[in-house]
Amino acid sequence: MKITRLSPQLIPGVERLIGMGAPYLRLRGSSDYWLYSQLFSSTCPVALDDGQVLGVVIAFRSQDDPDDVYIQDVVTHPDHRRRGLTRRLLGSVRHQAEEWACRRLYLTSEPENTAAHAAWLAIGFTNMPGDRVDHGVSVIENYKGPGMDRAVYEWLIR
Ligand SMILES: CC(C)(COP(=O)(O)OP(=O)(O)OC[C@H]1O[C@@H](n2cnc3c(N)ncnc32)[C@H](O)[C@@H]1OP(=O)(O)O)[C@@H](O)C(=O)NCCC(=O)NCCS
Repeated sequence: MKITRLSPQLIPGVERLIGMGAPYLRLRGSSDYWLYSQLFSSTCPVALDDGQVLGVVIAFRSQDDPDDVYIQDVVTHPDHRRRGLTRRLLGSVRHQAEEWACRRLYLTSEPENTAAHAAWLAIGFTNMPGDRVDHGVSVIENYKGPGMDRAVYEWLIR
């Protein structure tokens, strides 16, 4: 198993994998993945085993606040979960963020996504205080716009 950067030839495999992330992940258009591979590949690591895409993280360094790296999508293959793939992939994004001297990585997930909540906490993220607690998770109301409540997590670097 190796970790490599997102590149155009990996996009079909990444799309197949992201399709397995339902209901929490939404597949975007192929041109979006092309864009990520061209502009953000250093924060979009892919786990590959014998040519098969088993995991991916899509993340971006903020232009508005370059101290921040935002993680948009995380998914691993259903047959390869609980094997540390997400830990490795997020570790690789963190390593890049450290090289840039960023302050933190952050992400959001839906409060009912208990596997994601457990993974973020185990890996080192903190669930940021919110407006209410849902499924034992702090949730910020309307975080991504009206009606789009999210649990928000951050992993501090400095
Ligand atoms: C959430 C998800 C990305 C975790 O990926 P993963 O590769 O299984 O995570 P890891 O193996 O690196 O897990 C690291 C730690 O997180 C915790 N963890 C991960 N999944 C867990 C689960 N289902 N239940 C409890 N703890 C869990 C464990 O502590 C684990 O360490 P351990 O296995 O040594 O105990 C994966 O379940 C997934 O792809 N889900 C569908 C897509 C999704 O919901 N993505 C997040 C929304 S953006």
